[in-house]
Amino acid sequence: MSGNKSIRYNFHNFIGTNKQVDHTEIVMKEKLATLSFSDGSPSIDFPIFGGTIGPDVIDVRSLYAKTGKFTYDPGFMSTASCRSNITYIDGDEGILLYRGYPIEQLAEKCDFLEVAYLILNGELPNKNQKFEFDDIVTKHTMVHDQMNFFFRGFRRDAHPMAVLCGVVGALSAFYHDSINIHDEKSRDIAAFRLIAKLPTITAMAYKYNMGQPFMYPKNSLSYTENFLYMMFGNPCEEYKVNPVIARAMDRILILHADHEQNASTSTVRLAGSTGANPFACISAGIASLWGPAHGGANEAVLKMLDEIGDVKNIPDFIKRVKEKDGQAMLMGFGHRVYKNYDPRAKLIQKTCHEVLEELDMKDNKLIKLAMALEKIALEDDYFIKRKLYPNVDFYSGIVYKALGIPVSMYTAIFALARTVGWIAQWKELIADPEQKLSRPRQLFTGSKRREYVPFAKRK
Ligand code: SDX
Repeated sequence: MSGNKSIRYNFHNFIGTNKQVDHTEIVMKEKLATLSFSDGSPSIDFPIFGGTIGPDVIDVRSLYAKTGKFTYDPGFMSTASCRSNITYIDGDEGILLYRGYPIEQLAEKCDFLEVAYLILNGELPNKNQKFEFDDIVTKHTMVHDQMNFFFRGFRRDAHPMAVLCGVVGALSAFYHDSINIHDEKSRDIAAFRLIAKLPTITAMAYKYNMGQPFMYPKNSLSYTENFLYMMFGNPCEEYKVNPVIARAMDRILILHADHEQNASTSTVRLAGSTGANPFACISAGIASLWGPAHGGANEAVLKMLDEIGDVKNIPDFIKRVKEKDGQAMLMGFGHRVYKNYDPRAKLIQKTCHEVLEELDMKDNKLIKLAMALEKIALEDDYFIKRKLYPNVDFYSGIVYKALGIPVSMYTAIFALARTVGWIAQWKELIADPEQKLSRPRQLFTGSKRREYVPFAKRK
């Protein structure tokens, strides 16, 4: 148990701001929203709240009590499920801010742990805070040794996302001292553990697939260098991390770190609203991210490019997409919020070129195909009319491919980066006095009450 004691010592001495910025920015507007009915029922007023930026919201919490009616909004097209101080997106302008800072500046100037600190704590760290944060994360990258046996229960060809769902959920069976969600310190410890251990677990999932030995983390390396080392190193020889590749991977992690109330984050919040422990909530987020309409799209982009095969086949593929022929879809394109270029896609495209240059792969067939596909789609009326632009998943897969990472690992790397956002959003949820159990209602369209019919009398 001495290991556990030293963990507690380190966590308890952490001097970072370690506080969520409090919710002081919500403003009740003087005007009200009035709901009127055409059948002569009395109209009802609802308050309107404004945030610091972005659209105002109509507070409909009292709607059911006042009218006996629900709102109907499948897919949450017009619903703000919470208030949050973490990430802001202007989808029409293609703007993304983490805690107010533009993604372009953070991707250019920060390393991943600096951004992780910012997302978690609300402020950029000073020198001491950064040193301490990095130190705590670095010193908790190792997983409980019994985890090795846990991995061995999976088939060797298990999808890494299936492994991540299971192993991250299982962390709650290994770290009992960080599942008390009502204790702030315990929540912080869980946050550190998740951020520190996700690269180790993700690399273990890869090594297990490959049939290679797990690599223990190396504390002399940075967060991202360590991840690359655990992925590509082996115990037989020295592995030197290429700094250009490490920087590219670090930037990709920054670009994936948070994205306000996307499907997986909303899943984490929904699970969190029940009081479930943080490891279980993040595991739920991983499951939600896996879908091809969400984080699974980076894997799907590569499969799509493989299927197209050659620039000359693009027109036929685009035709099938436009005719909605079967499953054909331009993966890595379109977004619920961005009706403009996803700023992350631009940054990943730049990173992609840097990596291909470094690896002497400038004439890479895949990148040429992707760029030709992007150009044709951006000039096509179908995509223009629907405001469909490349999203974060369009180019990331090409970078991973150039690095020799198998396609099945792409969404797992997304999950590793997004863990920071998930845990920050989960902590914000737990600290928010307005949050309640998430329990949507429904418009019921099934059978009305009817009486049971015994077998013998059924037709
Ligand atoms: C991520 O929310 C987030 O923040 C997510 C994310 C994050 O960081 O967390 O940004 C990460 O999930 C990125 C998205 C990755 N997914 C894909 O690349 C899959 C391909 N994209 C589509 O499935 C789609 O664009 C969605 C799911 C991303 C968004 O879908 P919406 O907002 O529900 O829009 P929709 O499906 O109603 O589409 C509107 C129209 C439809 O055509 P019509 O019925 O009007 O004729 O656009 C068409 C759709 O058929 N359309 C596409 C298309 N995306 C939308 N047509 C062809 N190819 C596409 N990719």
